[in-house]
Amino acid sequence: NTVPVPQRRRLPYFGHALSLPRGADAMLHLMKESRTLGPVFNLSVFGNDMILVSDPDIVAELSNTDRFVKCIPSDLLRLRDLGGDGLFTAFNEEPNWQLAHDILMPAFSLDAMRGYHSTMVAAARSLLASWDRHAIAQYSTDVPTDMTRLTFDTIGMCGFGYDFASFDRPEPHPFIASMMRALNHAQATNELPDIVNRFTKRKNAQYAADIRLMTDLIKDIVEQRRVDDPTRTDDLLGRMLNSVDPRTGTMLDDDNVRNQVMTFLIAGHETTGGALSFALYYLAKNPAVLSRAQQEVDLLWGTGDDIDPTYSDVGKLTYVRQILNEALRLWPTAPGYAVQPLEDTVVGGKYALHTDEAMTILTPALHRVPAWGDNVDSFDPERFSPEQVARRPVHVYKPFGNGERACIGRQFALHEATLVLGMLIHRFRLDDRTNYQLKIGMTLTIKPEGFTLVPIRRQASD
Ligand code: HEM
Repeated sequence: NTVPVPQRRRLPYFGHALSLPRGADAMLHLMKESRTLGPVFNLSVFGNDMILVSDPDIVAELSNTDRFVKCIPSDLLRLRDLGGDGLFTAFNEEPNWQLAHDILMPAFSLDAMRGYHSTMVAAARSLLASWDRHAIAQYSTDVPTDMTRLTFDTIGMCGFGYDFASFDRPEPHPFIASMMRALNHAQATNELPDIVNRFTKRKNAQYAADIRLMTDLIKDIVEQRRVDDPTRTDDLLGRMLNSVDPRTGTMLDDDNVRNQVMTFLIAGHETTGGALSFALYYLAKNPAVLSRAQQEVDLLWGTGDDIDPTYSDVGKLTYVRQILNEALRLWPTAPGYAVQPLEDTVVGGKYALHTDEAMTILTPALHRVPAWGDNVDSFDPERFSPEQVARRPVHVYKPFGNGERACIGRQFALHEATLVLGMLIHRFRLDDRTNYQLKIGMTLTIKPEGFTLVPIRRQASD
């Protein structure tokens, strides 16, 4: 005896489309719906049904990888225009997923992180130098834009030995503009019926041009490597071009390499940049937390200017890491992921789910369930103290997804973000001169839109 998944009354053809806002507001609307309709509800947009889940017991059930696997719902399907059979958008049964996963996993081992560390420090120094200039001029800087510059340069250098030199440019690298437009277009077309999309010829042409600009750049990156350093194997690109899979004896084909580079250039920076931006936002608003974090970095690096953070230093910044975890709790920058059952099944003891249906874990809602304690909307890094973590069920925190299709770049992201956040707060006070009010922006991932700060160099007394 199963019951239907709760939903609001739906209109024929439109479903719930007419009451669904666009972009980030859609996500905020869904978070609100989860409070009104309950932690499992259905949303239907022009015939596309989506079941959104934030019930911790059901999420625990959906985390059982013997029963559920990643699903590529319609929004990710559109992204295959960019990422094709790259890791993020590959279907589970596509042989290239397993092949690329096996070839690239070693590139995310702890040993590999050690190898990327000095490059990450170099990228962080470019950011620091840029903030120094703002500090001298007492001029505000757009935080998400800077964090995008930093994380894009970091993945470019660590992954592909390619320097986008974003801090030497007045505007972000052209790849970023094309990427943002393409992601926005893919998202917008997903929210509209196909019949409407056929009439947006100019936008479709721009979409094609943007994808061309991005793939041309990727071709250059790959060709440059083939000429300059064809046998290099210590970064993502080197592994992609030179690894033979021990199980099958095969290598990644050229199209797949292109799709992987595209995937890593996008997935490898957007989310981390957003996480750093949210963390800085909360630090600017919570002076006591900032001050405790500054004590931690000062204890490690002293109060002088000239610091040279080592790989093992990053593991010692446990409170800085708690700040990032807490920022990712409130605003998981990839705010959901979808799974489908391997066999027809019943979920939560009452909802029938067929193999061609999916459930989407709405992480910003999951991350606010009562298991998180009181005041779930407030920023409190203590939630990630070892004692509190030990007391909490494991499946209430999913910023990186679940199972073997979870984020391959998790350690990379956390190492980079902890290092950079530590270095920034070691050097600067954060002057929130405009008293910024949080506004969530969204293009595939979320960011605090329009968040500016004036960085101020710390004095010995700060
Ligand atoms: C997958 C989040 C950073 C590369 C995922 C998924 C999530 C996620 C939720 C699973 C998506 C799904 O199940 O549909 C994040 C967050 C990050 C971050 C919040 C930063 C704070 C990175 C970085 C890289 C990366 C730095 C690369 C260097 C990938 C890839 C996948 C993935 C390739 C697909 C893995 C697969 O299916 O095999 N990420 N990510 N991510 N992420 Fe990340």
